[in-house]
Amino acid sequence: MDSIIVKGGKPLSGQIHIAGAKNAALALMPATLLSEEPLTLTNAPRLSDIKTMTELLQSLGAEITSMQDGKVQAMSTHGTINTTADYDIVRKMRASNLVLGPLLAREGHAVVSLPGGCAIGARPMDIHTDGLEKMGASIDLKDGYLHAKAAGGKLKGAVIDFPFASVGATENIMMAATLAKGTTVINNAAREPEIVDLATCLRRMGAQIDGDGTATITIQGVDRLGGATHPVVTDRIELGTYMLAPVIAGGEVECIGGRMDLVAAFAEKLDASGVSVTETANGLKVARKNGRPTAVDVTTEPFPGFPTDLQAQMMAMLCVAEGKSVLEEKIFENRFMHAPELVRMGAEIEVHGGTATVTGVERMKGAPVMATDLRASVSLILAGLAAEGETQVNRVYHLDRGYEHVEDKLGAVGADIKRVPGS
Ligand code: EPZ
Repeated sequence: MDSIIVKGGKPLSGQIHIAGAKNAALALMPATLLSEEPLTLTNAPRLSDIKTMTELLQSLGAEITSMQDGKVQAMSTHGTINTTADYDIVRKMRASNLVLGPLLAREGHAVVSLPGGCAIGARPMDIHTDGLEKMGASIDLKDGYLHAKAAGGKLKGAVIDFPFASVGATENIMMAATLAKGTTVINNAAREPEIVDLATCLRRMGAQIDGDGTATITIQGVDRLGGATHPVVTDRIELGTYMLAPVIAGGEVECIGGRMDLVAAFAEKLDASGVSVTETANGLKVARKNGRPTAVDVTTEPFPGFPTDLQAQMMAMLCVAEGKSVLEEKIFENRFMHAPELVRMGAEIEVHGGTATVTGVERMKGAPVMATDLRASVSLILAGLAAEGETQVNRVYHLDRGYEHVEDKLGAVGADIKRVPGS
C-alpha cells in the first residue's frame, strides 16, 4: 500500500486548482438511470470512488465513456437494465446506495445491497427506505439486500417529513420522485450545494423541481426525462482542505475555482482564528502571514453549518493554534479516529464522546501515522506540513477516494511531499 511522506516547516505559496465535487458527481452519475438519453458530466473529478461508481453503473447496463483524462463522463442507459446492485461493488463505497431511487423510478423494482458498517458511524438507510415506502414501494431486507418493489410498477408522489436532513436520502428521494405519478414534497430536506447541483442537472434533463437549497423541496413527477450536459460543482471539501494548508504551514495560497458561498461557515471560523480569506477573480486566497492562528470552537452541522467533512482537517489546524478549542461532532458518532494519530505527532487532544478538546502546541513532531478514513488521512498530511521532521502517512488508498494527486497539488505550492509506492 502506498504511503505519503511529508517534511514539515516550509511556508506555502502559489495556486491550487480545485476539482469538481466527489459528493456531487456520486449523486449525478446515477441520474443516467432516469433517462434513455445521454447524460454528460463535465468538470468531473478523477478519483477512485468515481471509478467504483462507473463500475457499478456498468454492471447495471450503463455505457460510460470517460474522456479528457477523466474530466468528462458520457453516460447512457438504453432499454431494460439489470436492477441488482451487487454487494461486491456496494461494499467498496456506500454512495452506491444512490442507485436505489433511480432504479425503482425507472423499472419499478430494484435489489440493492445494504452497504454495511463504516469507520465513521453506523450510517443506516432508514430515512431512504421510509421515504420510498411513503411513495408506494414495499422494501424487504433479505440476505443483506434491500428488495424494493413499487406498487403497480410505478412510484407515486407523497409528502415526506425527514427526521434528519440526510444528504443521501434527499438525493435518492428527489431522483425517485422525478418520474413518480404526482407531486412529492420533502420536508426537512438536506440543503447541501451537492443537492442543488443534482437538482440543477435533473432540471436540465426535464425534471420539475423547486426549493432545492431550502428545507422544503417539491418535485412534480413527469413521464420521461431527456439527456443533458452538466458541469459538476466545485468540491467545497477539497477547497476547505487546501484553504487550511497555508494556515497550518504559513504562507499564502490561492484556490482556483473556490467560491465563498460554498464555504461560508468554514471561512467564518478561519476569520475568527485570525486568518485572512479574500475573494479573487479566480477563487479564494488564504494567507497566514505571521504568528499562529487563534483557537476557535467548532460544531459540525448540516449545510449551511460547519461541514463534518472538514472537521478532521480543522482539528489539525487547531492542534497548532494558540489556546484551547472545543470541537463538537454532531453528524457522525465515530469521527475522531484521527485524534490519536495527531496525538502521536505531539498534539494535545482529549476526546469524550462527540466532543474533542484541543490545546494548541507550539510545534508538532513528525511520526509514522495511520489513515483510517478519507478525511482523517488528509488531516494527517496537513498536520505533517507543520511538523518538525518527517511524517509518514500510511494506507493512503483512503485519500485517493476523495483527493486528486494531493502530493502534486501541495508540491506545486512548495510543500516537501512525496508518495512512496507500496511493496
Ligand atoms: C454524505 O453522506 C456525504 N457522502 C458524506 O461525505 C458527508 O459526511 C455526509 O453526507 C454529511 O454531510 C456523499 O455525499 C457520498 P447523511 P450521507 O445521509 O449521504 C444518519 C466524505 O467524507 N442517517 O446526511 O451518507 C447517518 O447515520 C463523506 O466525503 C440515518 O440515521 O450522509 C449520519 O449520522 C463521508 N438514516 C447522518 O444521518 C438514514 O437513512 C448524516 O447522514 C440516513 C442517514
